[in-house]
Amino acid sequence: MKITSAEFIISNSDVSKCPNEPLPEYAFIGRSNVGKSSLINMLTNHKNLAKTSGKPGKTQLINHFKINLNWFLVDLPGYGYARVSKKTKEVFQQFITDYFEKRQQLVCAFVLIDIRLEAQKIDLEFINYLGETEVPFCIIFTKADKIGKVKAQQNVAAYKKKVMANGWEEMPQHFITSSSEGIGRDELLAFIDQINSE
Ligand code: GTP
Ligand code: MG
Repeated sequence: MKITSAEFIISNSDVSKCPNEPLPEYAFIGRSNVGKSSLINMLTNHKNLAKTSGKPGKTQLINHFKINLNWFLVDLPGYGYARVSKKTKEVFQQFITDYFEKRQQLVCAFVLIDIRLEAQKIDLEFINYLGETEVPFCIIFTKADKIGKVKAQQNVAAYKKKVMANGWEEMPQHFITSSSEGIGRDELLAFIDQINSE
């Protein structure tokens, strides 16, 4: 799929104020700093459409980006960032869970995982939460440029084992990406295109 337009529409912390057009949307979620905003920029070929930072905790709201005038990418705040206050964490958690539980337009969530790391409890718990909430999701491994191809495959295989030990019958559909190298872009856009045309 060719990206012909990508436009920021609105940021907010209230799911009822998200755009009310009945267009399919895809949301990016995962630990702070995993590369959610960078991946949105990579997919849309824009350097600064979504704000990124080397410091965790950059994205703090639900951000809607309209793509090709007929679907949305949604950038969300990260979870698991230790340095925000307990109160802020609770507020984030509330609007993120509201988003996943109430947003009718959401067709698929992308759970981002840093390919370098061993499976983290917080991610496995989040994946289970999506399962219980019946939100369709895929896993996206990020920052593949930081390790070699062989190591990447080993880490994905180890992750799969952890996911299955965590109660899943099979590994959810997954993609390997690098925002700095453009790895995985075609596959992800083809996946979205396929759903959009169903
Ligand atoms: P929050 O908004 O804080 O939750 O973070 P985020 O998940 O949106 O991460 P963001 O896209 O802001 O990226 C965090 C840091 O990781 C930045 O310094 C990015 O440049 C870097 N980064 C993101 N993706 C990649 C990647 O594929 N490869 C490399 N090498 N660095 C990346
Ligand atoms: Mg971000």
